[in-house]
Amino acid sequence: MTDGDPDVELEARLAEQERFEPPESFVEQANVSDAGIYDEFEENWPECWEGAADLLDWDEDYDTVLDDSNPPFYEWFTGGSLNASTNCLDRHLDERGDEVAIEWVGEPVEEDNRSYTYEELHREVNEFAAGLRDLGVEEDEVVTMYMPMVPELAIAMLACARIGAPHSVVFAGFSADALATRMNAADSEYLVTCDGYYRRGDPLPHKEKADEGLAGVDHDVQTVVVDRLGDVSDHEMGENQYDYADLVAENEGADVEPVQRDAEDMLFLMYTSGTTGEPKGVKHTTGGYLSWVSWTSQAVLDIKPEDTYFCSADIGWITGHSYIVYGPLALGTTTMMYEGTPDYPDKDRLWDIIEEYEADQLYTAPTAIRAFMKWGSSYPEKHDLSSLRLLGTVGEPINPRAWKWYYKHIGGEECPIVDTWWQTETGGMMVTTLPGVKDMKPGSAGPALPGLDVQIVDTKGETVEPGRAGYLTVQKPWPGMLRTLYNNDERYIEEYWAEYSDTDSDDTDDWVYFPEDGAKIDEDGYITVLGRVDDVINVSGHRLGTMEIESAIVGVEGVAEAAVVGGNHDVKGEAVYAYVILEDGYEESDEMRQRVVDGVDDAIGPIARPEQVVFTPELPKTRSGKIMRRLLEDIANGDELGNTSTLRNPDVVKDIATKVSGD
Ligand code: WTA
Repeated sequence: MTDGDPDVELEARLAEQERFEPPESFVEQANVSDAGIYDEFEENWPECWEGAADLLDWDEDYDTVLDDSNPPFYEWFTGGSLNASTNCLDRHLDERGDEVAIEWVGEPVEEDNRSYTYEELHREVNEFAAGLRDLGVEEDEVVTMYMPMVPELAIAMLACARIGAPHSVVFAGFSADALATRMNAADSEYLVTCDGYYRRGDPLPHKEKADEGLAGVDHDVQTVVVDRLGDVSDHEMGENQYDYADLVAENEGADVEPVQRDAEDMLFLMYTSGTTGEPKGVKHTTGGYLSWVSWTSQAVLDIKPEDTYFCSADIGWITGHSYIVYGPLALGTTTMMYEGTPDYPDKDRLWDIIEEYEADQLYTAPTAIRAFMKWGSSYPEKHDLSSLRLLGTVGEPINPRAWKWYYKHIGGEECPIVDTWWQTETGGMMVTTLPGVKDMKPGSAGPALPGLDVQIVDTKGETVEPGRAGYLTVQKPWPGMLRTLYNNDERYIEEYWAEYSDTDSDDTDDWVYFPEDGAKIDEDGYITVLGRVDDVINVSGHRLGTMEIESAIVGVEGVAEAAVVGGNHDVKGEAVYAYVILEDGYEESDEMRQRVVDGVDDAIGPIARPEQVVFTPELPKTRSGKIMRRLLEDIANGDELGNTSTLRNPDVVKDIATKVSGD
């Protein structure tokens, strides 16, 4: 019954609506509003990407847009050289030196928010770049950062970019072990970290964790420590450990000549989870990556220099690299960084920030939107969100109900939503609507961006009919793509190309990139992403490898075997379910369960913590000994169990299911 209640009527109308036109007010001012861009890019490929490169300042012009002589080792804008920090800082100084580059909102403990103008950011980046040089950092040496959302993280990244030292940022929520693994894999001899940070009002120590990680690094490391907590922490400095503030002070007023980097020189490494236990070091380059994130920031996020742009991601993940730091700063806008969580001091933290800073865009994750929905619309209603012009989501599929809630309660039905599909490996956005051009369909990310050839194929690589589920593939290279896995060209081919390519061919047409996602496409070319088809699970938009979690659990004393799967979760999207077999002599107990959880915390971090640990005498296995993960997923989801007749031990399934459901 609607009974004329406008709110209820609106809900009812929204619930049925499957297609939304971009608001006229948005289209009128959009950076891209000409639908001809799709044909134009297709006809003019790969030269269409010159426009993206033109968004940057080059020291040396490139001679070739794409060198595809040795697929899949593509090179973009070859012969060109540039510096990423010059593009994000120096070139804005004349016109925008006094404008804010980074607006940092700290946890509201001491009201210590900080604004850095382009001038100020440029100065501190130069000073810290000089400090890194003092420590001995040279071009091409990897500097690791293990820091939460403090401004010095962005500063350290840009300082590295200035001196041509690739950075490798490790998410602060990862464990000490995870830090050590990544530093060893990258042979990284430098670390920038901090004493601690605030979360939900409490100071959290961080340096202890960094020190513990350093103990597991197999070579000498020089460490820089940022003081975030001031008097609250009394951390000890060890040998080869330096205070960030001292390094910067010693280099006051330093002017560090930016190192000219070849377009194909590495800008950074980012470790991410894959099918096997070892994290993969995804390598991104200077020219192609920076062009890609700048172009997508402009075309999709509609960023303009005068905007205040807010992405609520963490810089420890690719979203923060591309769409808090590099893309927005390359375009000379004001980018926001916030420390803390969306529910502290109250569940309106984000809305409070948006109102106070009059943010123009909000880019967040579906898991956050589901939480906001659960908390209720009264929180955003307390705030004036009319400054918002565009909304975005990333990290996992968004269901239509959450999409519509976001559209109505945050965007006031006046902001287009861009649902952006991409990955660490793609560098930036790949599949999404251009907000000033295309209609939106809730639940579907949209068509591939112009200039990209995305196809949904079957197991043989044949394009499937619209409406049928298949595998997402990218059939042509693009500037923002990863170039390889660090020190492992073979694994690069194996992980991303082998499935659908003729690996003996040197013809680009025979090479197909496979991101390991399932998807379907509709008659209009809109793509709905169905989720990973490998052993990666997506918990609150964080990408975790089940093998990594399993090996953490098997490392716990008393555990014989473990299988980890993702089960559906209302807010997190997926949650970790761990099925554990104990060794003889060990009994199921709360203490044992806690040890399993601690094992995961230690090896990876609390983000990978199992939702449920189920002890079982056996795991369902096929006659050939393979664990039937699909059945374990069905159990986690409380679904009807599929066919168990091919199992060697069908009875075990019922026993496990009973345990999980608690019946
Ligand atoms: C998933 C995050 C559906 C997908 C930028 C992909 C999505 C993985 C979307 C990459 C989306 C990301 N709709 N699924 N809009 N965006 N994904 O490397 O499974 O942390 O492969 O990069 O997230 O995760 P990653």
